[in-house]
Amino acid sequence: MRSGWWNWRTGRLTQVPGFEPRSFSSSFLGAAKCNGDGSSLVLELHHADYDYEDEEEDEKKNMSQNYWEKRYQSGDMHWEKGAPSPGLVDFLAAHPSLPRGTVCVPGCGTGHDVRAWAQAGFDAFGCDIAPSAIRLATERTKAAGFTAKFQLADFLSDEPPFQFDWIFEHTLFCAINPGERDDYVRAVLRWLKPDGQYLAVNYLIVEKSKGPPFCTTREEQWQRFSPHFELRKDWVPRSYPNRTGCERMFWWRGTTQKPVEKQ
Ligand SMILES: C[S@@+](CC[C@H](N)C(=O)[O-])C[C@H]1O[C@@H](n2cnc3c(N)ncnc32)[C@H](O)[C@@H]1O
Repeated sequence: MRSGWWNWRTGRLTQVPGFEPRSFSSSFLGAAKCNGDGSSLVLELHHADYDYEDEEEDEKKNMSQNYWEKRYQSGDMHWEKGAPSPGLVDFLAAHPSLPRGTVCVPGCGTGHDVRAWAQAGFDAFGCDIAPSAIRLATERTKAAGFTAKFQLADFLSDEPPFQFDWIFEHTLFCAINPGERDDYVRAVLRWLKPDGQYLAVNYLIVEKSKGPPFCTTREEQWQRFSPHFELRKDWVPRSYPNRTGCERMFWWRGTTQKPVEKQ
């Protein structure tokens, strides 16, 4: 932010050298000065307790819709690889006889994974918290000639339109604030049929980066999901080139699921 003291005169702002602010409340510093004929005004307010540099950090902590939407609008989408997860592509090719059913991809982004499920014959559904993601996913799916549904939704707090046979996770778990991971597990249990299957490509970054993405481990995945699911298999999948060796797939099957009590 550019701060200082500025003069509004005939439609133009110019800096006022040497102008001293007066304090007029405990929280705000500011000053206003107007000349006699009203043609000149100097006005600025600073909130004494507010660090403007921290604004982006605060927004990241909340991981708000605003934060993600801004990233789409500014094109700051380094997760966008222009293709579905290679691990998902290989999984679908290796299991051609899976009974077809409904699948939800939460945090679907521009929809590559949703289209991969649709192409494999599933009733595919994507949801995302960012309106631009839903718009892009819808447009690209139509242009590619696939049928899939997309809905603007907060996976962590919204109710599902219905319960799905499958949920496919790909870089949503690591994108949300780590403090919301209990909500994530509850959301999977809410959006999935009790005997549904949860397939996840987890990004196992170990360094404590500022995030997102935020790190997770195989141990954390086991701790969070094994109380609710039976692990059919986990393995290191083929990955996008810059994620080789950093991903692990988990194929979980619902047994008897009890909702996790909210604390
Ligand atoms: C790192 S991007 C991954 C997008 C996509 N899965 C991919 O791999 O290309 C994370 C996505 O999750 C979405 N998202 C974040 N929080 C969400 C929430 N609570 N509910 C639904 N989507 C969310 C973001 O808008 C963003 O599209």
